[in-house]
Amino acid sequence: MPCSVVVCGFFGDTGKGKIISYLALKDKAVVTARAGVGPNAGHTVLYKGKEYKLRMLPSAFVNEKCRLLIGPGVLINPEVLLREIELTQSKERVGVDPQCAIIEARHIEADKKGQLAEQIKTTGTGTGPCNAERALRTVKLAKDLSELKKYLVDVPLEVNQAIDKGKNVLIEGTQGTYLSLYHGTYPYVTSKDVTASAACSDVGVGPKKVDEVIIVFKAFTTRVGAGPLPDEISMEEAEKRGWREIGTVTGRPRRAAPFSYELAKRAVMLNSASMAAITKIDVLFPECKGAKSYDELTQGAIAFIENVEKEIKIPVTLMGTGPDALEIVDRRKLI
Ligand code: IMP
Ligand code: MG
Repeated sequence: MPCSVVVCGFFGDTGKGKIISYLALKDKAVVTARAGVGPNAGHTVLYKGKEYKLRMLPSAFVNEKCRLLIGPGVLINPEVLLREIELTQSKERVGVDPQCAIIEARHIEADKKGQLAEQIKTTGTGTGPCNAERALRTVKLAKDLSELKKYLVDVPLEVNQAIDKGKNVLIEGTQGTYLSLYHGTYPYVTSKDVTASAACSDVGVGPKKVDEVIIVFKAFTTRVGAGPLPDEISMEEAEKRGWREIGTVTGRPRRAAPFSYELAKRAVMLNSASMAAITKIDVLFPECKGAKSYDELTQGAIAFIENVEKEIKIPVTLMGTGPDALEIVDRRKLI
């Protein structure tokens, strides 16, 4: 902080929602801006015993004082957005940029058939066809929709003013580095770049205004949809190790593999990450469940974290030890 960007260093689903909700509470973020593709993302937040699965609103909503903005680079499905505003009771603090593009029924239909559905195995949420139309300059924008009128604000202006006043600002990336249209495993990727630079561009923040880039990894690697996954294990083996997960948006089982040091190293480079978070430490090392300080971690967990740090050459400052927003070890002040 003051301005931190949070992105994923693998294939998405590393727990950005959890990390962002923790940071928003702990660092008293004043403004969050959602970057990334659109409602193809699924961010899970568990707070005060309640689980939220968000596809449009920033995961920072758990901090009731935080502004919840959506940057112009992001695609909006108005139905999903309005449902989430209702679910989180946040209508007074939501702001949508007038230049966000709108997903319509035809985009969703096109995403659910042909090569996108069968070869790429997309989320079917219409984001690829909508971004394609955006490039053709025929897509509708948020400013054209009367149901979004009361939420329209100049998001880049609000975010930059907050940064200039020294307030804590969080930029929430989505998907993961290796799903980037430019840096990922093309053609098995999403419909735009999703690295830290793209997240900044999505919300209108230039590269000189960012203080921290926090890259989120999980203690093992997962991937949903088609495309390469180094050292992939079978679904049966994943089940045995407790690594089997189900996709938030699509309900599909996630493919799994051990933590990839090679992917992690390159992701740190591509995002100019300044620190790392690793979630699900408690899945690899069950005795760490619920730990809130570094000395509560087991020797095995500490050896793993030290090994990651040696490889990626940036500090691992946040370690997830359970699904709740507050089940976390935070070493940021100590490093
Ligand atoms: P699309 O983004 O729906 O076009 O899907 C392209 C690829 O990215 C597919 O393999 C999806 O499963 C994957 N994908 C898109 N969004 C996410 C996400 O938020 N988490 C994990 N995988 C995603
Ligand atoms: Mg997800």
